[in-house]
Order: sequence, then C-alpha cells, then structure tokens
Amino acid sequence: MAGLLVVPKAEPIQSPGSEPHWRAALRVRESELWMSVRAYGNQRREHLSNHATYILADTINWLSALPENSIHAVVTDPPYGLVEYDDKNHKKLRAGRGGVWRIPPSFDGAKRKPLPRFTVLSADEITALHSFFSAVAFGMLRTLVPGGHVFIASNPLLSTMTFHAFQKAGFEKRGEIIRLVQTLRGGDKPKGAEEEFPDVSVMARSCWEPWGVFRKRFTGTIADNLRTWGTGGLRRASREEPLKDVIQCSPTRGIEKSIAPHPSLKPQRFLRKVVRAALPLGIGIIYDPFAGSGSTLAAAEALGFHSVGTDRDHQYLSMARRAFPQLAALVVRERDER
Ligand SMILES: C[S@@+](CC[C@H](N)C(=O)[O-])C[C@H]1O[C@@H](n2cnc3c(N)ncnc32)[C@H](O)[C@@H]1O
Repeated sequence: MAGLLVVPKAEPIQSPGSEPHWRAALRVRESELWMSVRAYGNQRREHLSNHATYILADTINWLSALPENSIHAVVTDPPYGLVEYDDKNHKKLRAGRGGVWRIPPSFDGAKRKPLPRFTVLSADEITALHSFFSAVAFGMLRTLVPGGHVFIASNPLLSTMTFHAFQKAGFEKRGEIIRLVQTLRGGDKPKGAEEEFPDVSVMARSCWEPWGVFRKRFTGTIADNLRTWGTGGLRRASREEPLKDVIQCSPTRGIEKSIAPHPSLKPQRFLRKVVRAALPLGIGIIYDPFAGSGSTLAAAEALGFHSVGTDRDHQYLSMARRAFPQLAALVVRERDER
C-alpha cells in the first residue's frame, strides 16, 4: 500500500465560512490523511467506526512502513515489562497460573487481579526493554507530525528506562502526568515471615502511575506550528484552566472491565482527558500502538476524533470489536474524579 499516503501540503486553501483558512486547510488534510492511514498496510483490520480502525500488527513493523508525518498524537499504555505479553507469559496468564503474572495477596477482603511482577526482570530483559522502546520511539518520531505529542504510561519501577529511550531517540520530554490511583501494588510484608516482621514492608505501596509526555521537535513558533500542523501545544481543560499534570482517577470501574476484560484496561475517565489534551485544536489522528481492548480508540470516538490502533494479539482485536461501541458510549462522571 506504499505511496497511498497523502502528506499534508504547505499551501493554504481558502475557507468558505468564518473559520480561518489555515484551520479549514488542516481539516481537509486530516480527512485526506485519515483515508490513507486507516488503509495502510496489508494486515487484517477492523474498521470499528468511520473514525476508528484497529489493525492486527506488530507496532514496530507497521510504523516502519508508515510514511512520515502521518499521525498527530500517540496515547498508549505499552507492555511495561515486555515479557508480560510475550507468548509464554501470555499463555500462563490465560491459563491462570505462573509466569511473570502474580495474584497479589488479598487486601481488605478484596480479590486482586493478576499483576505482572516487574521486580523479577533480569538485566538482559531490562536491556531488551530499552532496545524495544528505542525502536518504538524512533518509529513514532518519524511518523508523528512536527510538534506531535506522545503520552505513554509506565510505572515507577520501569519509567526511567522507557522515558530515557524516548529522549535518546530525539523527543523533547515535556513532563509527566501523574495519575493518582490506588494500584495496591507493593506494600506487602516479607513473604512467609509476615508475623516475624509485622512492621516491615518490602516496598512502598504505589499510589500513582507516571505517564511520560514527549513532543516531536519543530522549528518556528508554537503559533506557526499550530496553524501548519495543528500540533505543538496541549488542549486546555477550559479557557480558564490548563491541563494539570496530576489527575486523580480511581481504578477502572467494574462496568468497564465487564465490557472489556483486558488485564491492563485503562479507564475512560482518564483516557478521555489525555486524548482530548493531545490534540490542541481537536484536529488530527490519534495513534495507540498497543491498543489492547481498544480503550484509547473508544476515548477518541467519544470525543469525535480519528484514531488508529495496532495490537499483535488477535484475541484483543476481537475484544475491541465487541467493546468499542460500549466503551465509547459510556457516560463519564466528572465528579467521580475529585
Ligand atoms: C498494557 S496492554 C494495553 C491495554 C490497554 N491499555 C487497554 O486499556 O486495553 C499492552 C498491549 O500491547 C500488546 N503488544 C505487546 N507487544 C506488542 C507489539 N510489539 N506490537 C503491538 N502490540 C503489542 C499486547 O497484546 C497488549 O494488548
């Protein structure tokens, strides 16, 4: 399918209404680009709606063939430790035993779902993690338009590695969004010696999730870049209030988990805030390289944005086909977040 892509042209077109011509030109270019990006490659895909497409592909392969300046923002929750979604560990997760996935001890009577145990990663696995994220970062850097943002989830144990790979690839780090969430990860007493050491935790209980924020460099002013590419800044929460870098968001609700039983499902309440912020003018294409249940695509749909996702697991593609319309239609209550 190479050659199909329509790369945005520089010359402005005249707007018929009161909209500035550069904004009308951005919309025309977005539509042209969308038709090519969603059709790009020969992998199996599902058009989840007129605005969203899910492609069964390895992200590094798909990105390596995608022409430059094809997407406007990335919002993603990658496999943090790489190994948790490899074939061996994935099979063990689905069989309900072993591997890097562990059922944490129950807490206050609550049954806890399997979590990957990243502290078991070997030095070689950590090196592989850095190489993998470097390849992902280079692919994104080439295919994002100038000024395009990446929001990438991590966890406090591995974020240094992931974020460093993005900076080394050439992205500007623009901060982190801290999702305040009771993960119930960590904080346990020494295993098998809980009574002997009742006052000791192996590590602190984690109550936050870091999301790295990166931007592809651009030349000229931010206003120029907004007019040319529609990117460079972040959408404000309102005219009076900017996006803030701490977002309170409780764990994914039961209703969402029943719609999309992915082991790492992210909540719509959080995703919609981040996806909205990622397109400062509301014009452009969101890409989720590790689309899982399609939750990022559903958040984009709820906001009326175009989005494309890749995942290499066909069971998650089937899950996304079923879950997408319901996740996109969910009503998100702002007051739950305060
Ligand atoms: C942490 S999960 C994302 C879940 C998502 N946040 C959600 O709410 O459904 C990471 C996903 O990346 C996928 N994955 C792992 N390696 C991949 C690769 N190289 N290319 C594409 N997808 C990959 C896994 O199958 C998994 O669904």
